[in-house]
Amino acid sequence: MEEDTGGISRRTFLGRSIAAIGALIAAVVGGAGFGYFISPVLRGEGQDEWIDVGAASSFPPGVPTQVEFTHRQREAWVTTERKNSAWILTMDGKNFTVYDPHCTHLGCPYRWNSQTHEFECPCHGGVFSVTGKVLAGPPPRPLDHYPVKVADGRILVQVSALRAAALKAKDSKAQA
Ligand code: FES
Repeated sequence: MEEDTGGISRRTFLGRSIAAIGALIAAVVGGAGFGYFISPVLRGEGQDEWIDVGAASSFPPGVPTQVEFTHRQREAWVTTERKNSAWILTMDGKNFTVYDPHCTHLGCPYRWNSQTHEFECPCHGGVFSVTGKVLAGPPPRPLDHYPVKVADGRILVQVSALRAAALKAKDSKAQA
């Protein structure tokens, strides 16, 4: 026998109460899960990170030095690691230029020639000065370089910023 509680039966009241509690639990759990999945996007992960490429004191002035480092990039929920390298140049031990290691013609890795004091690209004869200026061959622009800063005696670079700028330049060239 069902008890009438002001217009609705006890069974109906209990059913609705259980449904309401279930909906509340689903909202809390679902909200937390949604927050977990959306948080990397809200935090802006995947944006540029400063990468430590070495002690500022370890680079002799006037001589480009190649360094290798791991570039870790987080895009939302996926983290990728990529081996990367760069050429570091300082003339005074205080200010640093960090070159992308790829030729600005078609992206071949270039090398430093300590005899001629020039960067040389083996693919099509591109030649760059120590400051990255094009001296010969088909490269259309000077060497690209990464944003760099020195903090606590360490050299920090932003690799993604250069890649983004290069892609943007490529896009605008393609649209022109
Ligand atoms: S890729 Fe370097 S000169 Fe062509």
